[in-house]
Amino acid sequence: MIKLNNIHKKFGDLHVLKGIDEEINKGEVLAIIGPSGSGKSTLLRCINFLEPPCDGDVHFEGKLITKDSKILNSYRQQIGMVFQQFNLFPNKTVLENITMAPILLKKYSTEEANEIGLALLERIGLLD
Ligand SMILES: Nc1ncnc2c1ncn2[C@@H]1O[C@H](COP(=O)(O)OP(=O)(O)OP(=O)(O)O)[C@@H](O)[C@H]1O
Ligand SMILES: [Mg+2]
Repeated sequence: MIKLNNIHKKFGDLHVLKGIDEEINKGEVLAIIGPSGSGKSTLLRCINFLEPPCDGDVHFEGKLITKDSKILNSYRQQIGMVFQQFNLFPNKTVLENITMAPILLKKYSTEEANEIGLALLERIGLLD
């Protein structure tokens, strides 16, 4: 469960997030909607401290997470994020791009990751 308590984020004088409270339970799907520039991506970045909040707390499964947490890396490994820009590595193949994280994080062997990656590419018609 992710719990956000009074999250604030400022960029200079621009106060983007003004006290966001939210609780997201396991299995729950939450859509964040709002006009361009209203802070949706900023909120997502604050959840895993790609942007550290200026104020407020983030709890994950009951534990307080801060930008200095010793568990920040393992916490981040449990958060997937699809960026608005694709942010692929241009010097790598599509398969290498999608298998790199699971291999580096030792979630799968190279063989297993390739097998899953190829199946996913086939499923969406990109195997060629
Ligand atoms: N690193 C940053 N430095 C300065 N200002 C920023 C930074 N990141 C975001 N902003 C500003 O914060 C505001 C919120 O931006 P954000 O990208 O979170 O909006 P959004 O709701 O995701 O918009 P969109 O629908 O276009 O994706 C915008 O005014 C943006 O210019
Ligand atoms: Mg956005």
